[in-house]
Amino acid sequence: MTGTAPADAAWAGIIISRLAIGRLRLRSPESQGLVCSTISTWASLHRAGGFVSQKGRASRKSAAANVRIIETSMIEIRRGSRDDLDAIARIQASCPDAAQWAPADYLDHDLRVALLDNRVAGFLVTRLLGTLDGNSECEILNLAVAAQARRRGIARRLIGDFLTGFSGSVFLEVRESNNDARSLYNSMKFMEIDRRPEYYLSPTEAAIVMKFHSC
Ligand SMILES: CC(C)(COP(=O)(O)OP(=O)(O)OC[C@H]1O[C@@H](n2cnc3c(N)ncnc32)[C@H](O)[C@@H]1OP(=O)(O)O)[C@@H](O)C(=O)NCCC(=O)NCCS
Repeated sequence: MTGTAPADAAWAGIIISRLAIGRLRLRSPESQGLVCSTISTWASLHRAGGFVSQKGRASRKSAAANVRIIETSMIEIRRGSRDDLDAIARIQASCPDAAQWAPADYLDHDLRVALLDNRVAGFLVTRLLGTLDGNSECEILNLAVAAQARRRGIARRLIGDFLTGFSGSVFLEVRESNNDARSLYNSMKFMEIDRRPEYYLSPTEAAIVMKFHSC
């Protein structure tokens, strides 16, 4: 970890304390009002070359220069319903890397949607495979985030919401070439446990099997 300039440290302290109570309102020395969503603040600051990254690095730039309007929306996760299927179909159709199921079939499983500015911006579908001695086995059937809403922490929030209170193992398959999704799962401590050659068709490609264990 590199050193933190005093001004940066002060701003970081303010952010940490404000994050703990939910919505964050900051005013920079230039009096720009900011309302940031709690979860995406870290990622947004990180991407903006801001003063604190997720890895704890501190920028040497002044805090004032880095404070800018980052995010004015909130991400909300809730259960998906029939009313969400049109939006899910649109997102899925725009994501060739996602599984292409009939959206109505998702209602037979655990369906969660992420709302950004009150509109469905992503969804996660999981299926319970079984439970033994309090430990469950689940699989992720599909996950997709609308292209214009990516890199705001939506997929991470969806998976985090699903894992909250979950005890057991979660499995998934992902196309070998799908580096975005593999980065996401790796960042969330999923382990690559197997490779299945020619698992996918159109185009033919291997699947990487990943597993997450939650105690
Ligand atoms: C993969 C996907 C779901 C990620 O959704 P997202 O909301 O953009 O992901 P997040 O913003 O929560 O990203 C969380 C972390 O995942 C990693 N990540 C996500 N997208 C990435 C990308 N394009 N490049 C590198 N890393 C990426 C990063 O570590 C990121 O953290 P950071 O932004 O702080 O660096 C999205 O790109 C998508 O819908 N892709 C098409 C469908 C698909 O591939 N589904 C998966 C099927 S298995």
